[in-house]
Amino acid sequence: MTESQQTGEPGTVDPAHYREVMGHYPTGVAVVTGTTESGEPVGMVVGTFTSVSLDPPLVSFMPKTTSGTFALMRDSGTFCVNVLAHDQLELCRTMAVPRPGKFDDVAWSPSAYGAPALDGAVAHIHCTLDRVVPAGDHLIVLCCVQDMAVTRPATPLLFFQGGYGGFSTRGLAARGDAELIEAVLLADVARTAVERLAREHRCEAAVLVAVNDHELTTAVSAFGGCARPQEQLGQRVPLMPPLGEAYIAWAPEETIGAWLGRASSQEPEVAEKYRRRLKTVRELGYAMSRIQPEGGPQYADLTDAMREYAGGELTPARERAVRAVISSASPFYETCEIVDGETYDLGAIIGPVLGPDGSVVLCLRLGQLPRGADAHQVRRWIASLKEAAARISRSLEARAGDQYAAWQATTGDYLI
Ligand SMILES: Cc1cc2nc3c(=O)[nH]c(=O)nc-3n(C[C@H](O)[C@H](O)[C@H](O)COP(=O)(O)O)c2cc1C
Repeated sequence: MTESQQTGEPGTVDPAHYREVMGHYPTGVAVVTGTTESGEPVGMVVGTFTSVSLDPPLVSFMPKTTSGTFALMRDSGTFCVNVLAHDQLELCRTMAVPRPGKFDDVAWSPSAYGAPALDGAVAHIHCTLDRVVPAGDHLIVLCCVQDMAVTRPATPLLFFQGGYGGFSTRGLAARGDAELIEAVLLADVARTAVERLAREHRCEAAVLVAVNDHELTTAVSAFGGCARPQEQLGQRVPLMPPLGEAYIAWAPEETIGAWLGRASSQEPEVAEKYRRRLKTVRELGYAMSRIQPEGGPQYADLTDAMREYAGGELTPARERAVRAVISSASPFYETCEIVDGETYDLGAIIGPVLGPDGSVVLCLRLGQLPRGADAHQVRRWIASLKEAAARISRSLEARAGDQYAAWQATTGDYLI
């Protein structure tokens, strides 16, 4: 029996099970707008908008019997169905709450039929009420189409398994990996340093770079001793707690806030825990992951989750599961000061490389380190990592200088 099957009498369906199964059927997202008795604009988000008949042209949507918004607009008998575009998630959130004044910060114009037409929607379908059919805890509202137009041929906003997404074609569209190529070019500056680190410490040394504002990737790696490739170059990992601390610790508050916002728990004490950890990483100048003794969260689960994330095309439900595993790995990532007399089973040591403006440009990682290392050994690794990072920083500065000189040479004629 799969997890989506349920036991029970035939014909009786548990509401949670109904939602779970129906969540596997994606819907578009539309805002049905109308006006109140006094002419105020009102609107509600529906995932139940559907075409019904071509001849005559009929459409329908299904408000809850308890919907206050539908009750307000029902008597006007004229509606506009606004099909939302992929970039209208904020508008969707605004329109999905049961409160008045939702149109205050929304761009719209009155349509010829009276109901508000929202700016930026993919299509407007102007219709009049034909009949309302009671259907359990919902109403089937059948409407006659009076006029309709595609107002912006953009891809739509989709709703699936409780999450929002967009449509992507399986046709000939190439994946836009310009950002990945840029990241690889940047990381190349550190190639020699990384090769030297791997040789000297007989471990894995790698360069991590951001591919965009929420993903890191390994762009260069080198192996010394018995270390062997364990992940593919270019494999993306999500920048979410506890991952990416060495990259995030020096970032502006806005970036830190966005990183914390991706944690699977938004409890204030979780955010505080990660802020404390970022402070430690900033003070010590490195982040680390530690292999846990038996009984803690399993490292293998984490690698599986990362692999699943990197494979892409996660359904919202799988994405939540993968994020939950990553979050549960939080104890692996507690950076600490190195104490004499202790031994360390390290997963990795990661340090930032600062660019000419003081922001983190890339990170260096030492991995596949021998277990049970003493404090002296760990300090040597950290010192080497910091030295290499400082060297790379200096060569980035020199490069920035060269670029400025080149720019001056080409634009010098225009400089006063
Ligand atoms: C993606 C999505 C789809 C929704 N679909 C429907 C729907 O088909 N019928 C419905 O009554 N409410 C639906 N809602 C909820 C309403 O938009 C929203 O709760 C409602 O307009 C505000 O409550 P009220 O109608 O009681 O004023 C949906 C919400 C979202 C976010």
